Amino acid sequence: MQPLQFTCKKHCNRLPIPLLGFAVLLLISLATPTSSCTEQEKNSLLQFLAGLLQDAGLAKLWQEGKDCCEWEGIVCNGNRTVIEVSLEYRGLEGSITPSLGKLTGLQRLNLSYNSLYGGLPLELVSSSSIMVLDVSFNQLNGDLRQLPSSASGQPLQVLNISSNLFTGQFTSATLKGMENLIALNASNNSFTGQIPTHFCNISPSFSVLELCYNKLSGSIPPGLGNCSKLRVLKAGHNYLSGTLPEEIFKATLLEHLSFSSNGLQGMLYNTHIFKLSNLSILDLGENKFSGMIPDSIGQLTRLQELHLDYNSMSGELPSTLSNCTNLITLDLKSNNFSGELNKVGFSNFPNLKTLDLRLNNFSGTIPESIYSCRNLIALRLSSNKFHGQLSKGLGNLKSLSFLSLANNSFSNITNALQILRSSKNLTTLLLGMNFMNEIMPDNARIDGFENLRVLAIEYCLLSGEIPFWIAELANLEMLFLEGNRLSGPIPAWINTLEYLFYLDISNNNLTGEIPTTLMAMTMLTSEKTAAHLDPRVFHLPVYRGPSLQYRIPIAFPKALYLSGNKFTGVIPPEIGHLKALTKLDISFNNLTGPIPPSICNLTNLQLLDLSNNNLTGEIPAVLENLYFLAVFNVSNNNLQGPIPTGGQFNTFPNSSFAGNPRMCGPGLNHHCTSVEVGLAPTGSRGLCGGDIVFAVSFSVFIGVGVLYDQMVLSRYFG
Ligand SMILES: *[C@@H]1O[C@H](CO)[C@@H](O)[C@H](O)[C@H]1NC(C)=O
Ligand SMILES: *[C@@H]1O[C@H](CO)[C@@H](O)[C@H](O)[C@H]1NC(C)=O
Ligand SMILES: *[C@@H]1O[C@H](CO)[C@@H](O)[C@H](O)[C@H]1NC(C)=O
Ligand SMILES: *[C@@H]1O[C@H](CO)[C@@H](O)[C@H](O)[C@H]1NC(C)=O
Ligand SMILES: *[C@@H]1O[C@H](CO)[C@@H](O)[C@H](O)[C@H]1NC(C)=O
Ligand SMILES: *[C@@H]1O[C@H](CO)[C@@H](O)[C@H](O)[C@H]1NC(C)=O
Ligand SMILES: *[C@@H]1O[C@H](CO)[C@@H](O)[C@H](O)[C@H]1NC(C)=O
Ligand SMILES: *[C@@H]1O[C@H](CO)[C@@H](O)[C@H](O)[C@H]1NC(C)=O
Ligand SMILES: *[C@@H]1O[C@H](CO)[C@@H](O)[C@H](O)[C@H]1NC(C)=O
Ligand SMILES: *[C@@H]1O[C@H](CO)[C@@H](O)[C@H](O)[C@H]1NC(C)=O
Ligand SMILES: *[C@@H]1O[C@H](CO)[C@@H](O)[C@H](O)[C@H]1NC(C)=O
Ligand SMILES: *[C@@H]1O[C@H](CO)[C@@H](O)[C@H](O)[C@H]1NC(C)=O
Repeated sequence: MQPLQFTCKKHCNRLPIPLLGFAVLLLISLATPTSSCTEQEKNSLLQFLAGLLQDAGLAKLWQEGKDCCEWEGIVCNGNRTVIEVSLEYRGLEGSITPSLGKLTGLQRLNLSYNSLYGGLPLELVSSSSIMVLDVSFNQLNGDLRQLPSSASGQPLQVLNISSNLFTGQFTSATLKGMENLIALNASNNSFTGQIPTHFCNISPSFSVLELCYNKLSGSIPPGLGNCSKLRVLKAGHNYLSGTLPEEIFKATLLEHLSFSSNGLQGMLYNTHIFKLSNLSILDLGENKFSGMIPDSIGQLTRLQELHLDYNSMSGELPSTLSNCTNLITLDLKSNNFSGELNKVGFSNFPNLKTLDLRLNNFSGTIPESIYSCRNLIALRLSSNKFHGQLSKGLGNLKSLSFLSLANNSFSNITNALQILRSSKNLTTLLLGMNFMNEIMPDNARIDGFENLRVLAIEYCLLSGEIPFWIAELANLEMLFLEGNRLSGPIPAWINTLEYLFYLDISNNNLTGEIPTTLMAMTMLTSEKTAAHLDPRVFHLPVYRGPSLQYRIPIAFPKALYLSGNKFTGVIPPEIGHLKALTKLDISFNNLTGPIPPSICNLTNLQLLDLSNNNLTGEIPAVLENLYFLAVFNVSNNNLQGPIPTGGQFNTFPNSSFAGNPRMCGPGLNHHCTSVEVGLAPTGSRGLCGGDIVFAVSFSVFIGVGVLYDQMVLSRYFG
């Protein structure tokens, strides 16, 4: 109406009366819409509704009689024509009827995040009005090959069919008429065959192609080089093979190039890579690339993320990398890179947040220039050949939250801890397999670490005692001190760590009794405490051994590993308080006395290893209550009497009981006499309550996980 008034003001006195009257009429008709959406449009929408199995209340919102332009999720233009249907996150179930294709003015259709199934109607894809079609995050299926080659010149610009169940190939006939397509997101389906390239030739402005998480195979088609407007090309997590074709480097507008997790090989050539000077994300991780990082990488001055992890690349890092001054993430883990890092001017990376060099052959000391990366949040140098003492500069990294130096040859742990304590934001500190044969720094000299949640100083052969400064790590959730030579007792303050739920002090030289304070650990005594834990993910996934990977701390079991020490005395009956415990290993100590029947209350236990002690008495029959127990070992003790026969006890191998000459059972050399069977305590099961019905079905599944976990138990954490 604005232009009309303007026209009037300027020309009114010159307008002949009839024309003025017409203008007024027009004004009135625009201001008070007498017409609503047409009956036909309304019917098309109602037909769509009728095709749904579950409309989650939409029918109520769309009451008949009202103008459909006013309906929830519907937008009309000034002509009362439906131009937009936005029904995302509506809980819709059922199939999409073709009736929406009859909305001749429909430009945008968004049905994402519902539970729609069946095929995608051709009427929508080949519509002569729809420009934006988003049906992502549904369960649509079928094969796009079935779309007939439609009339050319379709207006469709954005097609998002990602996160559905589509199958089949993209043939050159598929989506042939899409001359205006700009973005196609087909990620997270089950498409097969080759990467489609015909868009590059038929649609001059085609710029976004996302095909991640499908089953695409074959090599990367050179035809992609014809996509001169391509900005985003993502085809990670497929089965692609071959090399990066030279032609792809003709797509010089590319900003995001990702082929992670495929079977690609070959080298990155100096004469190619620099052509993609607009790249900000290059992700070629989890492939079979070899060779060096070419010098010309330095010309990618916009690069923010470089992921070359899990390849077979080698050589030194080129000094020209220093020219990539916008780097935020540099992930080179699990390759064969070598040499010292001093050539790279890390001080040129003021924005660097993540540097992951795990599992390479880097050597030398940590270059001082790293300490000027003030925004560094995660630094992992584990499993290389770094050496030397940490420098004071490390204390400058005030944002540092994740630090792993594990499995190198760093020295002077006293120095390391004194420097690191000023990194107030540190939550995860992994130092294992360094500082060999040094002494665990004691009490008063360390403080700080207010936010530390995970501390690992394992397999360092450190002597000394479990130091008191650990008592002050008020937020500690996991403590790994195994594989040292720590002596002395388990400190009584251990239960003041109210978030600690994982304690591994196995394979040390610890003595004394198992303190009853350990039986009062807050996190282990209540099953409802997980809510207090920090749900945040590790900044980098952490590794335990070659293949066990954790992304969140709470994925770890609630566990006490005390094995391989010199603990004496009895297992405190109060152990029955640790109701949340899933793994308990006290093997290879010098414990005496009976197995406390109260263990039957630890109903979450998956692993119970009491082997290689000097325990006496019988196995309490109430342990049959442990429905989830997958690994049980009491071998090499001094136990006697019959092996319980109910519950999970039917699933344990004879080796679980071996080396107890006075124990009897069907699988052992010593068969039970009627006297021995008679001695077995019966009827005490009630003390633990419950029944044993579900036991066997769970055991197989959990058994695998536990065994696997144990296999890698001896590995460091990095
Ligand atoms: C209304 O429809 C006419 C004819 O179809 C078209 O030219 C005009 O642009 C439309 N007006 C609006 C506001 O969409
Ligand atoms: C569709 O809706 C979802 C959820 O609101 C939104 O994230 C997405 O960007 C929309 N799609 C398009 C193409 O605008
Ligand atoms: C679908 O993809 C388009 C184009 O990439 C994008 O704009 C839209 O936000 C995506 N939809 C969702 C739900 O992410
Ligand atoms: C493309 O689809 C995937 C999977 O649904 C989604 O994660 C991604 O954000 C989408 N891309 C865009 C630009 O919307
Ligand atoms: C893939 O799609 C499924 C089902 O829609 C969804 O739950 C999942 O988050 C998607 N994965 C990715 C990586 O987008
Ligand atoms: C890139 O780095 C090299 C060596 O560090 C330097 O000689 C060169 O001038 C830099 N090039 C650009 C474009 O900054
Ligand atoms: C430390 O962590 C907190 C919480 O994650 C964050 O808000 C703060 O900015 C961080 N401090 C620095 C110096 O990065
Ligand atoms: C280890 O570090 C401490 C504290 O920085 C220092 O006093 C000591 O001399 C260092 N030891 C060696 C062997 O360098
Ligand atoms: C363990 O401690 C004892 C003294 O309690 C000592 O004699 C022995 O050498 C220590 N063993 C190791 C491997 O450190
Ligand atoms: C175990 O303890 C007993 C007595 O408590 C002692 O005689 C024996 O030497 C100890 N064995 C080991 C291996 O420490
Ligand atoms: C198991 O716990 C219950 C409740 O705490 C207790 O009454 C019972 O005595 C315990 N059973 C054994 C065998 O200690
Ligand atoms: C087991 O304990 C008995 C005494 O209870 C002791 O005589 C024996 O030496 C101990 N055995 C081992 C292997 O420590």
